[in-house]
Amino acid sequence: MSELYNKLKQYGDSDYYPYHMPGHKRQLTGCIDAQIMKLDITEIDGFDNLHQAQGILQELQEKASLLYGAEETFYLVNGSTCGILSAISAALPPNGHILMARNCHKAAYHAAYLRNLTISYLYPEIIEEYDICGAITPKQVEAALQEEPDIEAVLLVSPTYEGRIADIKAIAEVVHERGIPLIVDEAHGAHLGLAKGFPKNSCQQGADIVIHSVHKTLPAMTQTALLHVNGNLIDRSKLKRFLHIYQSSSPSYVLMASIDNALQIVEDEGETLFETFFNNYNGLLQNLKTCKHLKFLPLQTGKQDVGKLVISSKDLGLSGQEIYDMLLKSYHLQLEMAAGSYCLAMFTIGDGKEAYERMEKALLAIDRCIEASIGNFEKCKAVAKGEFQKNRAAMPLAKAWDMETEIIPLNQAVGRAIGEFINLYPPGIPILVPGEVLTQALYEQLLQYKELGLSLQGIESLEPLCIKVLLEEK
Ligand SMILES: Cc1ncc(COP(=O)(O)O)c(C=O)c1O
Repeated sequence: MSELYNKLKQYGDSDYYPYHMPGHKRQLTGCIDAQIMKLDITEIDGFDNLHQAQGILQELQEKASLLYGAEETFYLVNGSTCGILSAISAALPPNGHILMARNCHKAAYHAAYLRNLTISYLYPEIIEEYDICGAITPKQVEAALQEEPDIEAVLLVSPTYEGRIADIKAIAEVVHERGIPLIVDEAHGAHLGLAKGFPKNSCQQGADIVIHSVHKTLPAMTQTALLHVNGNLIDRSKLKRFLHIYQSSSPSYVLMASIDNALQIVEDEGETLFETFFNNYNGLLQNLKTCKHLKFLPLQTGKQDVGKLVISSKDLGLSGQEIYDMLLKSYHLQLEMAAGSYCLAMFTIGDGKEAYERMEKALLAIDRCIEASIGNFEKCKAVAKGEFQKNRAAMPLAKAWDMETEIIPLNQAVGRAIGEFINLYPPGIPILVPGEVLTQALYEQLLQYKELGLSLQGIESLEPLCIKVLLEEK
């Protein structure tokens, strides 16, 4: 059982009266489960302080670092988002120069904005068969560092949203040859390195900072995450300073107990849970091979993670959103996200057999339906790809996002520098960054996203389609 949960539970059942926050006083709980509210305390005597951990929280962080093979680990209660903000801020000086994958989460861009960084991008290769981003390669990193020797840190996402895993060991070697740190946003890989047969996590492969969303792939509550730090390329007191800045001064003990609880489950039952997970997932993929039309991204040891079911409708005349909607409306299966020509379902150790059976049944039925109606679907033109265009930036993000803007119809915005991030959510990866110029091709891509009903963020209004652009000097 989670040590922190146990301690909170005992405290909640004790006769100590709370003359402190939170205001519900563990009594006025309304319709929220009283058992949860009873655990919800703040940093009172005997419960340590996340911002200066010396007691139980320090113990738990040390336990987590042992589990992941990290030198030092920090509990995060504001998601990987605050870990990414802190990591970048600590790894680079203000006005520094970062090399980062273009498919980084928006938090990375936000950090670049806050620290006035110059960004150079690594563009992931696109896996055409599935329209998804591949992993960044060591060669790409090496070439970029050779071209721009003033780069001060490198940031990558691995596994990606769709589960592509990069060769972090080789990349870390290339980056370290330059004496600079490698940050890995491993938000989707908190399960890596925890059981036999699973790829190692990035701490075990030489990365200097690794960030895990515990809530994404392990059985923990939303917002829970970890940041691990290794080696001497990161100034740890600076890192702590930024964690202090970007994390709440009232971290939730319910969330922290939930991290401890998830890691305890892994320690106690991990081997069995992960083995069952792998077998169930692999079994699902095998059974789905009977589909005649839908395609599923296959597992690939060390390259494609288990659990990210990419359901491709490419070239069927159906969009990813349409498959997503069918699964939701007809089968009550809520997926993680939809993109132009695929949608994504996530499986973790938290799923029982029913999750696999229901998905298999639904997808086989949808595939039969496609077979019966093939050719009748309204052709989804060239369905939008996950491709990143190398956008021209009229000015750097850090300057552009503070400029004056105006809102104009999208069709008048071609050739103008954009004033807001534009992305699909999920996954929250920017298609356009403030300061970048909207091209005709991107304009058409955005129109298509709208037509496909994908969830576009950063657009000012959908009807009529309007966008924020930088005000041009007269
Ligand atoms: C690659 C990646 N990094 C970071 C994040 C942010 O994680 P969190 O929601 O834990 O703040 C996400 C969220 O979806 C993500 O996909």
